[in-house]
Amino acid sequence: MKRPIASIVGTGRGLPEAVMTNFDFAKIGIETTDEWITERTGIKQRHIARNGESTTSMAAAAARQAMQRAGVSAGEIDAIVLSTATPDRLLPATAVDLQAQLGATRAAAFDIGAACAGFIFAVTIAEGMIATGTAETVLVVGSEKMSSIIDWQDRATCVLFGDGAGAAVLRRAKHQRGILSAYMRSDGTLANLLYRPSGGACQPFCEDVLTDRSHFVKMAGREVFKHAVRSMADACDRALDGAKLTGKDIDLLIPHQANLRIIEATAKHASVSMDKVYVNVDRYGNTSSASVAIALDEALENGRIREGMNVLVVAFGAGFTWASMVLRF
Ligand code: UT7
Repeated sequence: MKRPIASIVGTGRGLPEAVMTNFDFAKIGIETTDEWITERTGIKQRHIARNGESTTSMAAAAARQAMQRAGVSAGEIDAIVLSTATPDRLLPATAVDLQAQLGATRAAAFDIGAACAGFIFAVTIAEGMIATGTAETVLVVGSEKMSSIIDWQDRATCVLFGDGAGAAVLRRAKHQRGILSAYMRSDGTLANLLYRPSGGACQPFCEDVLTDRSHFVKMAGREVFKHAVRSMADACDRALDGAKLTGKDIDLLIPHQANLRIIEATAKHASVSMDKVYVNVDRYGNTSSASVAIALDEALENGRIREGMNVLVVAFGAGFTWASMVLRF
């Protein structure tokens, strides 16, 4: 395959102001401890949207920063691909609300649903649009208000997630820099291990749904953990093979930030030492499809990614979906 075709020319992030620490769960009557959450997940705190902050408003903050860094105006954007599991409304797509806020009047805007792997899926779609000439400039966003779909009475899930958004602007690659390889997979036979049973078209909202709380996220944590480790390892191999590189050629690994133990297992499998792994799960928790985008933006901002570096990104989530990509900056 002829690559690179597209590259990331600017990134940004949008986080809610409010921070909830592990100690704050006691205040809302959740029986947990900082020790349990830290040991099992590596999470110390997460940002939580309040006072009207929404999937769209976080996406807009991330997008504006990415556009400014890319030197791209709203009128230049040909497409907006927004990944979310928490759309502000069920109809229309959150991407069109974002388009309206940005004033990106020329853009085609749509949402995709690939859960925590969604940002990498969305970047791959953007690459395809640039490859075919359908678009020259694509805004890709992962934005999640996970606090709106988790069950705040279920200690096994509510401690894990956080809110936030990350964005990237993609354009045609120059000077052999950009996306070197991309890999995407799904397995719908395992959908019921991490899902929201009700609230969609199959089981619309009704009093029973609200009573049995089946519109909230349900997760078989241990099963998901095992699949995440296995699939992220495989995805790393596929992206490295696609780029004809090995773990030793990777300057920075950015894994989906769900659990420090999964991150460590992924790094070990890919033969990337932990000093070359970006970790921010301690500060944000699991922000689903925003996670890789936020980490990428931070790594570019704080100099962990510099020109000429090879970066491996990998994610896994509900569906199951998993995806990976090697980028040269
Ligand atoms: O982004 C999508 C991908 N998602 C993930 O990657 C998440 C994958 N799964 C995980 O990260 C881990 O499975 C968890 C962090 C969710 C859970 O860790 P675990 O080591 O698998 O714990 P567990 O669910 O097996 O629970 C162990 C114990 C249980 O008690 P018993 O039955 O052993 O007495 C739970 O009731 O921990 C208990 N527990 C808690 N205790 C204190 C569960 N949640 C909590 C809590 N505080 N918040």
